[in-house]
Amino acid sequence: MKKVAVNASRVYDIIIDKGILDKSGELAAEVLKTPCAAAILTDSNVAPLYLERLEKSLQSAGFSAVSYVIPAGEGSKCAENYLAFLSFLAKNNITRADCIFALGGGVVGDLAGFCAATYLRGVNFIQIPTTLLAMVDSSVGGKTAIDIPEGKNLVGAFYQPSLVICDCETLDTLPDNIFNDGCAEVIKYGIISDRPLFDKLRTTPIKEQLEDVIENCVRDKRDVVNADERDVGIRQLLNLGHTAAHSIEALSNYEVSHGSAVAIGMAIISRAANKMGLCPDSDLVEILDILSAYQLPTSCDFDAHSLDEAALSDKKRSGDKISLIIPFGIGNSQIYKVDVSELEGIFEKGL
Ligand SMILES: NC(=O)c1ccc[n+]([C@@H]2O[C@H](COP(=O)([O-])OP(=O)(O)OC[C@H]3O[C@@H](n4cnc5c(N)ncnc54)[C@H](O)[C@@H]3O)[C@@H](O)[C@H]2O)c1
Ligand SMILES: [Zn+2]
Repeated sequence: MKKVAVNASRVYDIIIDKGILDKSGELAAEVLKTPCAAAILTDSNVAPLYLERLEKSLQSAGFSAVSYVIPAGEGSKCAENYLAFLSFLAKNNITRADCIFALGGGVVGDLAGFCAATYLRGVNFIQIPTTLLAMVDSSVGGKTAIDIPEGKNLVGAFYQPSLVICDCETLDTLPDNIFNDGCAEVIKYGIISDRPLFDKLRTTPIKEQLEDVIENCVRDKRDVVNADERDVGIRQLLNLGHTAAHSIEALSNYEVSHGSAVAIGMAIISRAANKMGLCPDSDLVEILDILSAYQLPTSCDFDAHSLDEAALSDKKRSGDKISLIIPFGIGNSQIYKVDVSELEGIFEKGL
């Protein structure tokens, strides 16, 4: 069993092991001090695979459990499901002494987390991520959110869980394309600040070293979150490749998945950094090679002008400057502020 401690506004552990789903009840009882009512949020793909095991584990540790299943997919991270789950909590008399459990990928985690942050002004929250992306990224760091028609993740809160339980065995049932999406975020940590991780990913497939890789990524994200929980400084490094990625996702009407878009975004910014004389040739080649080795795309059909327009309409942008994350080499990415007028030219260099 691997354990990573997070020291954010709440101190909590991320536990990583195989088969640990069946121990969720015991682990939760230790953290919550006493068993209580558990309100589980999960989705329609995950429920038939893992919900019964979680309910059983909670019940045998003394919890009472009620479960709410949303349809799988990003469309479920919406205001309607937010309100519906809040009503479900109220109808089941969930109080501040109780706990919300998120069993699923980032969609379930983000929605459950935002409900936990706001229901009764905050109730206990435990994440049980079941996608690689959720294990290495969305369940760490306390960002919770829902989407509104005007944009993704526009409504949310910083709200840390009390515990994160990663059962690597649950990844066995992930479709390959969704697993590969998570690989893009794993590779991202290597390019940002972790050359040894990057090298490990090149020599051994992620699937053959899951626990180690998840622990490594969680530690990397934890370090960034400990230093900048509210995303006003170095947490922005985690956005490597994401400026172009968000444009690609939007321009494709979300047909291109997040992980694929991030892979393309990292390739674009790495090629641009190379042309700007900031990233050495050998590092660029290694970045493009590793993305291909994990069956991730490195190019798209959108032109620089469209990518630029989509990026500039991003509601979360502030002022005339945009922060880009530039790989000055593998393991050495830095925040680089550019004028918005320069962005199209940078995309052009990277395509
Ligand atoms: N909070 C954060 O810091 C943060 C960071 C990154 C991404 N996100 C959010 O995360 C979401 C994406 O997360 P995701 O990629 O996990 O998507 P997701 O939750 O939609 O899961 C992807 C698919 O995998 C299925 N699935 C989940 N676990 C499975 C399993 N073990 N076996 C079989 N199928 C399984 C789901 O039903 C879904 O169809 C986005 O909404 C994004 O905004 C949040
Ligand atoms: Zn991402």
